[in-house]
This record gives sequence, structure tokens and C-alpha cells, in this order.
Amino acid sequence: MHTAIIMDGNGRWASRRLLNREAGHRAGAQAVDRIVRAAAAAGISTLTLYAFSSDNWHRPAREVQALLGLLRRHLLLQSDRCLAESIRVSVIGRRERLDAALIGAIDDCERTTSAGERMHLRIAIDYSSRRSLIEAGALTGPRAEPGEFLAALARIDHSPPSPEVDLLIRTGGEKRLSDFLLWECAYAELVFVDCLWPDFDNTEFTRALEEFGRRERRFGRVSPDVSGGLAGRGRLGADRPVAVGR
Ligand code: IPE
Ligand code: IPE
Ligand code: MG
Repeated sequence: MHTAIIMDGNGRWASRRLLNREAGHRAGAQAVDRIVRAAAAAGISTLTLYAFSSDNWHRPAREVQALLGLLRRHLLLQSDRCLAESIRVSVIGRRERLDAALIGAIDDCERTTSAGERMHLRIAIDYSSRRSLIEAGALTGPRAEPGEFLAALARIDHSPPSPEVDLLIRTGGEKRLSDFLLWECAYAELVFVDCLWPDFDNTEFTRALEEFGRRERRFGRVSPDVSGGLAGRGRLGADRPVAVGR
């Protein structure tokens, strides 16, 4: 079970409280801690969080600095906790535009947690899915086998190969992917919630997992109830390959 989250709405959360956007990002970082723990407890095997997109460089310099500083502190603080909870951390995205202190924190956190087996936590920083796809294609050439292409994509993203996304959650009410995991979400179930990211708690998360549990995934096929099988909708539900939250 791979869940990916576009953690959106920090700025609006802050402006509703007459705070600056940085305060919203600080509140967002606390929600990250909460949801990482909840995801591990729910048995999710891979969690990918969208923390900073390549297009986010176009924000005011002060906000960019605040965001990247928060990410560095987050990685430093979470290393030991992830180690203790057997969570492996990888950072996907470009490294070469990040400052040395952040790159150091990423390397440390990845090294410290590399043996974690309970959950793979992937944090996307300076990430653009289109760029990853173009680079992976350039690396493998036009005649690559799918497996070869996926290995190249993992290499470009600096992550061990990971399964396709089963559930994509976007908070903050917008209904778009904003250049996140375009390949990996080919058959993902998309759940858009109005809740702003700093307010996203265990109840909201459980609700999203339950919504996923109600979806019928067909992967281009027909459901057994229309293909002549004995199984009805409920039966298909019982056979669904992934069951989370029950
Ligand atoms: C998400 O919150 C965090 C990042 C994009 C880094 P936003 O900062 O986009 O918050 P809104 O969408 O402006 O409310
Ligand atoms: C997507 O949110 C990126 C992250 C959550 C890190 P944005 O707020 O940057 O996306 P748009 O601008 O609404 O598409
Ligand atoms: Mg936003």
C-alpha cells in the first residue's frame, strides 16, 4: 500500500489566523509528524509526501528559505525517531540546487534510517515529476523495458524503487496534481479533501483511508458483477488487493 499526500493549504491556514505564511508551514510540519506516525500505525508500507515542488522556487525568497530551513530541522529531529520506529526515509527530487546544510541533513537521515523496514517514508523536495520522467527516459532510451525505466526513475529520484501509488490524498481543496508522481499515480485513487494541511489529523486521515476502502479498482478490466462472475460489488470489495484501516 503506497499512499502519497500533497500537503496543501499551509498559507491559507495562516492567513485565516492573521499569521504569516511561515507560521502556516511550521504548523504544517507538526501535521507531518502526526501523519507519519498514523500511517505507520495503519500499516501503510510506503508514504510519499510532497514537501517542496520545483515550482515552489518561484515563491518569495523569504518563504523559500523558511520552508527549506524547516525541512532541514525536520530531518534532523526526525532521524532518531524514524530509526526507533524502523521507518526508512528517502528524499526524492533534485539535490544540486539545495544548500549544503540541507543536503547534509538529507544524507544523515537517509543513512541513519536505511535499515528501517516498517515503512518507507519518501519526502519530495525540489521535485518535479515531469523532469524525473524526462531524465529517466533520456537515461534509458526509447527501447527500454518497463522494469529498466522504473529502475532509471528510481535512480533519478534518489530512492529505492517503490510501488505505484494506491491512494493519493490532496488537502486544501484544490483538485490537481501539481506535477507530483504523474507516472506512479496512473491508477491511483484520488481523494481531495477541503481540510487545510495543518488541520489534517488522524480522524481526517482515517476518513480518507475509509474512502479508499470503498473505491472499486478495476485497472481497465470490468468488475466481476458485469463480467458474469458470481461476485457482486461487496464481494469485489472483499477481494480488493489492499485493505487499510480495517
Ligand atoms: C503547502 O501549502 C506547502 C507548500 C506548497 C510548500 P501552501 O503554502 O501551498 O498553502 P496555500 O495553498 O497557499 O494555502
Ligand atoms: C503543491 O502545492 C506542492 C506542495 C504541496 C509541496 P502548491 O500550492 O505549490 O500547488 P499549486 O500552485 O496550488 O498548484
Ligand atoms: Mg498551495
